[in-house]
Amino acid sequence: MPVHEHPTGATDLDELRRRAVAAAPRREAGLVVCENLVRIYRSEGVEVQALQGLDLTVAEGEMIAVVGASGSGKSTLLGILSGQDVPTAGGAEVAGHDLLTMKRRARLDYRRRTVGFVWQQTSRNLLPYLSAAENVMLPMTYAGIRRSRRRARAEELLDLLSVGHCRDRTPDTLSGGEQQRVAIAVANANEPRVLFADEPTGELDTATSDEVFAALRRANEELGVTVVVVTHDALVSEQVQRTVRIRDGRTSTEVLRRVATGEDGVEVRTAQEYAVLDGSGRLQLPGEFTERLHLRKRVRLVLESDHVGVWPDEAARRARAQAQEASDAQEALDAQDVAAGGGSGR
Ligand SMILES: Nc1ncnc2c1ncn2[C@@H]1O[C@H](COP(=O)(O)OP(=O)(O)OP(=O)(O)O)[C@@H](O)[C@H]1O
Ligand SMILES: [Mg+2]
Repeated sequence: MPVHEHPTGATDLDELRRRAVAAAPRREAGLVVCENLVRIYRSEGVEVQALQGLDLTVAEGEMIAVVGASGSGKSTLLGILSGQDVPTAGGAEVAGHDLLTMKRRARLDYRRRTVGFVWQQTSRNLLPYLSAAENVMLPMTYAGIRRSRRRARAEELLDLLSVGHCRDRTPDTLSGGEQQRVAIAVANANEPRVLFADEPTGELDTATSDEVFAALRRANEELGVTVVVVTHDALVSEQVQRTVRIRDGRTSTEVLRRVATGEDGVEVRTAQEYAVLDGSGRLQLPGEFTERLHLRKRVRLVLESDHVGVWPDEAARRARAQAQEASDAQEALDAQDVAAGGGSGR
């Protein structure tokens, strides 16, 4: 059907469009942006809400650690962001790719070129019958890179990650730490924008996991790839500038670390913990705070000029004060009884 244009129609429509854009919720800027991300697993009538409205933004070039109890949703998040799994609802974008609407072909291409992945199990990252260099060259074959270029890039990557000496050896002749460093080289073969690693040091001892972690840092600093690493290792998470904690399928707190130089020229490392405020204004209070002040069910919020006060519910506070008074009175009575008895028990 032809569209009849009214002389003023275009302007009206432009105005409506402008207003619609202005009214739409603005997406955070970042290389990785998750907004209200939900992943529900259903099997045999049982529903598991692995992600329950998770918000996360990672800037280009950042290296962050993701921590959280077992079952909190860390691997589910990485599975979605790396294009292996599809979210149930919410928003997830990586380097401009919308992970909810992405079609099969685009998803395959995304997994080959935009992201790299390192698993915890060393055996899962490498093909056992190929040498280290051949393992690194394999993803480049899929991407259609020339053979001479493949060999040169594989050697550069292995050298950068201090495993150049392993290039002609198969995985079974490498240590666990060497295998993981080769795996980081494989994951970076096609110059991905983001590298995801799910507990890459989980099977290694402390000294070896330090080397693997150093290789991840190297990839971040020298290749410019953004890194998101899931870890249980506090020593690892302390080495990055930002650690995000997941609790029950949501980001709950973030620790930001900074290095500042004092007036005396001495470098001071500081770490500050922040609660995560989601797009709807929700935040999770730490358990130790709610227990100490007996915050339960209802709290009163008071807006001050530069902060928000969270107060125990007045009724609950009064009930607790009464209970305390009653228990003090009982103690006083007991003490009187003991005094009246003249300490006969002793
Ligand atoms: N394929 C699946 N089918 C059903 N439930 C699943 C599936 N994958 C994960 N879950 C459930 O989703 C929740 C989150 O699991 P996930 O593997 O993401 O946790 P995690 O934080 O990686 O834990 P861990 O530290 O033990 O690796 C758990 O309750 C888990 O049992
Ligand atoms: Mg996991």
